[in-house]
Amino acid sequence: MSDIDALEKDILAQISDAENQAALETVRVDALGKKGRVSALMKTLGGMSDDERKVKGPLLNGLKDRVNQAVLDRKAALEEAELDLRLASERVDVTLPVLTSQQGRIHPISQTIEELSAIFADMGFSVAEGPDIETDEMNFTALNIPPEHPARQMHDTFYLEEKEDGSRPVLRTHTSPVQIRTMLAEKPPHRIIAPGRVYRCDSDQTHTPMFHQVEGLVIDRETHMGHLKWVLEEFCKAYFELDSVSMRFRPSHFPFTEPSMEVDIRCRRDGGQILLGEGDDWLEILGCGMVHPNVLRYVGLDPHEFQGFAFGVGIDRMAMLKYGIPDLRAFFSGDLRWLRHYGFHSLDVPNLAGGLSR
Ligand code: PHE
Repeated sequence: MSDIDALEKDILAQISDAENQAALETVRVDALGKKGRVSALMKTLGGMSDDERKVKGPLLNGLKDRVNQAVLDRKAALEEAELDLRLASERVDVTLPVLTSQQGRIHPISQTIEELSAIFADMGFSVAEGPDIETDEMNFTALNIPPEHPARQMHDTFYLEEKEDGSRPVLRTHTSPVQIRTMLAEKPPHRIIAPGRVYRCDSDQTHTPMFHQVEGLVIDRETHMGHLKWVLEEFCKAYFELDSVSMRFRPSHFPFTEPSMEVDIRCRRDGGQILLGEGDDWLEILGCGMVHPNVLRYVGLDPHEFQGFAFGVGIDRMAMLKYGIPDLRAFFSGDLRWLRHYGFHSLDVPNLAGGLSR
C-alpha cells in the first residue's frame, strides 16, 4: 500500500470514529487545515518534476476530495443523530396535566372581558376601542349632553387641565364616546362592543373612581327594540351560563337614547348571596335604549334612514355577580392572595364551545 493510500485509510477511519461535531472538526483541521497532513502533501507538488507532478497531482487531489466528502458526510450523519437525540429527549407528554405549578393568574376583570368578547363575537360583534382621556365633545356634547345639561353633574367628571384653545379634556365617564368614534370612523351597519376603563370622582363601598364598562352599539336600517331585547337576553343567558333568564325592562332616561331603559335580572337574595334566575327580587345590571336621533345626526347619519340601539353594562358588577366576589374595592387593591383566590388560569381561554368559565 502506498503512503497516500495508508494516509487516506487512517484519516477516513478517524472521520468515521469522530463521535461528535467537535471531534470531527479536530480531525478535519488535522487533515485539511493549513498545517494538516493532506495540505502538507499538497505543498510538495510545487517541488516535483513535471512528470512526477502529472502522476502525483491527480492522486493527491483525489485524496483531498475524498477526505473532504467524507467529512461532509460524517457531519450530516452527526447532525441527524443529534437531532434524533434531541427529539427523543425533548418529547412532550401530552397526557400530562397542564402546568399545575403555574403561578400567574388572570384578573377576574380580564376574564370577564374575554367572556363578553367571546359571547358578542358569536353574535357578529367586533371589539372597538377609544381613549381613556376624552374630549368634552366626545364624552358629552356628541352624545346629546350639551354644556349646561344636568347629566354632566351626575357623571362626577374628572376634568384635566384646560388646553390653549379653551377646551378641557376629561377622563371618560362612560364608554359611550366609543359609539361616536365608531360611527364617525366607519360607515354603517355597525355592530360593536367597546369594553374599557371609565372614571368618576366617587369612592365608597360600591364605587371606585375607576371602573369598567362595556358599551354595545348596533346601527342598521331596520334594527329595532326587539333586536335589542334578544341580544341582551342571549347575552345574559350565555354569560351567566343559564338556560333561561327573566329580565325586566324599566323606562329610564339617558340623553343619548330614546326611549331609554334600565334592565333588571330576576334574582333571589339569600343572606349575603345573590342567586340569579330565580326568586322575586330584581337586580339592575345595565342601561340601554334606541340611539337618539340627535346622536345619529351628529355623526352625519339620517335618522330616517338609520336607527339602532346601544347599551352599557358595568363589567365589575357582572364579574362580582358571576364569581361571588363581595367587595368591589378588592378588585383594584393588588392583593396577591385575593388574585390567587379569585383569578383564572391563563390557559383557560373562554370560548363558547368549551365553556366560558371552567
Ligand atoms: N353610558 C351610560 C352610563 O354610563 C350607559 C348607557 C350606554 C345607557 C348606552 C344607554 C345606552 O350610565
